[in-house]
Order: sequence, then structure tokens, then C-alpha cells
Amino acid sequence: PVLVVDFGAQYAQLIARRVREARIYSEVVAHDATLEEITAKNPAALILSGGPASVYADGAPTIDEKLFDLGIPVFGICYGFQKMTAALGGVVANTGGREFGRTTLTVSGNGKLHRGLPETQPVWMSHNDAVQSPPEGFDVTASTPGAPVAAFECVERQMAGVQYHPEVMHSPHGQEVLTRFLYEVAGLEPTWTAANIADALIADVREQVGDDLALCALSGGVDSAVAGALVQRAIGDRLTCVFVDHGLLRAGEREQVQNDFVAATGARLVTVDAEETFLGHLAGVSDPEEKRKIIGREFIRSFEDVVSEALGDRAAEGKTIDYLVQGTLYPDVVESGGGSGTANIKSHHNVGGLPEDLEFKLVEPLRLLFKDEVRAVGRELGLPEEMVARQPFPGPGLAIRIVGEVTKDRLDLLRQADLIAREELTSAGLDGQIWQCPVVLLADVRSVGVQGDGRTYGHPIVLRPVSSEDAMTADWTRVPYEVLEIISTRITNEVPDVNRVVLDVTSKPPGTIEWE
Ligand code: XMP
Repeated sequence: PVLVVDFGAQYAQLIARRVREARIYSEVVAHDATLEEITAKNPAALILSGGPASVYADGAPTIDEKLFDLGIPVFGICYGFQKMTAALGGVVANTGGREFGRTTLTVSGNGKLHRGLPETQPVWMSHNDAVQSPPEGFDVTASTPGAPVAAFECVERQMAGVQYHPEVMHSPHGQEVLTRFLYEVAGLEPTWTAANIADALIADVREQVGDDLALCALSGGVDSAVAGALVQRAIGDRLTCVFVDHGLLRAGEREQVQNDFVAATGARLVTVDAEETFLGHLAGVSDPEEKRKIIGREFIRSFEDVVSEALGDRAAEGKTIDYLVQGTLYPDVVESGGGSGTANIKSHHNVGGLPEDLEFKLVEPLRLLFKDEVRAVGRELGLPEEMVARQPFPGPGLAIRIVGEVTKDRLDLLRQADLIAREELTSAGLDGQIWQCPVVLLADVRSVGVQGDGRTYGHPIVLRPVSSEDAMTADWTRVPYEVLEIISTRITNEVPDVNRVVLDVTSKPPGTIEWE
């Protein structure tokens, strides 16, 4: 892999993503990884990320400088660029030429990184110190007003670096520059394609699970569907997919799993019809956290009930199910410190409250992938587009989109409204812009309306379209008025008991994405 050495900036994961966009596999490693840990990964190149500190500050993050002597191609970015300079004998100083935000890069010379790109181009900078003189043997190939040495390269040593951040979209030629480092300076080949990824992951799962049995809980979401499809390819019928229909799903989701997923993968599927059970336990409950607790608990119970069914005839042979498939993604792995798969069973216990005696080992085939890669692999495996492109949907489903008590009637009504909103947003071509759009029923609120000739006393529906990168922060999406108008008209005309549609114009923070 290309290893991105994380100096504590928030950009390391983004850099890894950009490298993978150039179709080369990349992973993030902490800067305090030892020389042995790094070389054990057999890196094709190192990218030194930005970081918050000055290279000369006390306690500034550092790496083992022997890494520069191993013939591994190196690319330095921002702090990493300065670190590389200092380690290789160049000079970094605080010249007062600090730059934050957009500045103009002027290309000079005939370096590989910027050749043929516009002579002046905007780039994104964030630095106090600057490189004064490059290490011996390096050519300076670009400058900015605050950084006379804004890029350098040494083709013989396969090393280069830039002061600016090529990974952010505010540096419009950044991806091109990064790609040139990878292809032209480091000499790497683009082999990280969906087909190759899928093949490699299937082989890994086959090796991990061997002749054992595995279970996969499908939620209808992208991650569990792709994870399930990969494991199915790897071990066939030794995988049982379990789909708990808790009655809190959106229109069409059950059919998608039961028909489309099964048709695309040939997976062995057990569906648990648990609507009555879930709604029974939710009766009379309005508190969001209590709803979540009940749903989590009942989910586990349904899952337990199905284990013996999933074993089928194999129970007689004394078989047990050893593995549980999880759709964990790379960002979760990096954020939890890169812990190994089996350790995660703990967090699963905490989150879902799996009983102690249900001891599964985990199969996490997506743990090295970003979301867009998961989608690409899903397409490669032939999963239907509606499934692969689906927006995130919370585990507790529509229960936390009904403010008030959850009942079958209310769910049916919300399902209708949600379907209308989804249809219209899709046909307006807005899916790419919208991270997700919760549609919320304010069941405890009534307002007066007039429909036909009569007075109505109905409920409002809230539209909550948000744009986001990772759901940690979000902004409300500026959906065109014409589209809102169609959605509003259709919902108030077609959905009984709803006489008002309102738009949520709150960012996150302060609002969360969901209403509960
Ligand atoms: P909030 O509402 O916290 O949502 O801004 C952030 C993201 O998480 C989803 N979400 C959940 N997912 N169980 C889940 O599996 C939950 O209880 C839950 N609550 C929120 C939400 O849809 C959004 O994508």
C-alpha cells in the first residue's frame, strides 16, 4: 500500500481517499508507528501528511528518519513537506510568511508534478513556517507569495513534496498533482479497481472463515448488503442472511431485500416477521431513547430465535455458527485506533447488547473500504442500484421519525409521505446533493387546515433534507422551491390526516439530523 503517515491533521484519511481515487491502495498509519511496523507493510510509497505543529517545536510529531534511506518513494504535504526538508538537510524557518486559505501558486521550471498545468493556480495553504532552501538534489518547482519553496522534487530519489494541501477541493489541480507523484515519480500502477478489490476481499473471507458457518444481519442498507454479498461469494450457502422485518421500514425496503438482494446474490435468506412483536412493545412509548432501547433489545431476541433456524440440518451434526458478518467501514476502524476485528465484539455488546453466550467471531470484509468504494464493490457484485446508492437510514427506522407514539396507522402514513418525498427528490436529480432526507411525522402536533370545503385538524410532516460528508456535521440542503412545492402538494393531497408540510432549515450542530 501507499502509507499515509498521520501527523495529527484531520487530512490523513482524506489523503488516503485521494490516493485510492487514483486507483492505488492506501492506508493511514500513525506517525509513531515503528520502522519495523511500517516496513512490514511493504509500502509502495509514503505520504507525509500535514500536521498542526512547527517541525522545530518541542514534542512536534516526528518519524524515524531511517525511512528516508530505504529507497521508498516519499511525498510530503505541508507539515510533512517541512519534516522531509528538515530530515534531508534542507532549511525550514519561520519567516513571517504565514498563509491560511486560498493563495496563488506560480509554477517554475519543468518538474513532473506541475508540468503542463496552468502556470498560476489557486491552492489551499495553512502554514506558519516555510521551507527556505530545499534538501540537496531537489529542484524547486513552484512558489507562492508566502512560500518561496512551495514544491520540490528529486526524480532520482523518487521524492517530492508540496507546501499546499493537494487533497482538498480548494486546490483544483491537487488531485492531478498527487496522481502524478504516484504514477510518474513513484512509478506506481493503478490496480485498485472494484473488480480487483472484490476478488481480493472474497479470497480473504474464504481464508478467514474456512469451512465454518456465518450469519449476516441485513438491514436493507448498503454496508450490510455489500458485506453479505461478498461473504456469499466467498462461502456460498454456509452464509445465512437474516432480515428482521420490524415493521419500521420504509416502503419497498422489505421487497428490495427479499427479492432484489436474493436475486442478485443467490444468498440463503431467513426473514423474521417481527412487526407485531415490535409494535406491541412500542405501544404507549413516546420517549426516543426508550424506543431505541426496546428496538435494540427486540432485535437481538429475533436474531437469537433465528440462529437455530439458520443452522437447519447442520444442528444435528453438532455444528454451530462461528462468524457474524459486520459492515464496519474504514473510517470507523481508523477512528477506533485501528483495532483488530475480534476486539470489536465488545463494542457490539455495548451497542446492541448481544447476550454474553452468543459468542461470534467477526467477519468485517469492508473494514478497509471507504463508502464510495463499498458502493463500487456492490455494483461490481451486481447489487441493484437502488440498494447500492441508498441513503443512510437509522437502525430504529421510522420509529424515531414519528414524534410521539408509534402505531401501525402512523407508520403507514409516514411511509406514504416518505415515498413521495423520495420519488420527487430523485426525479429532480437531487440525490447526489442530499446526504439523507428524513421525513418526520409530528404525531403529537395538530394544526387547523382547510381542504375541499371543510376544516381539517391534521398533522404536520417535516422535510429534513441535509447535505453532509460524514453525518458528524450537516447543513440543510437548499432544495429548489419548485421541488418543495411538488412534494408539499402531493403529500397534503395524497396522505390522509396530513394538512401541512414544513421544511427544517437547521444545520447540525445545533440540530441533529434525525428529530429523535
Ligand atoms: P443524528 O440524528 O445523530 O444522526 O445527527 C447522524 C446519523 O446517524 C443516523 N442515526 C442512527 N443510526 N441508529 C442508527 O443506526 C440510531 O439510533 C440512529 N440515530 C441516528 C442518522 O440517520 C444519521 O445518518
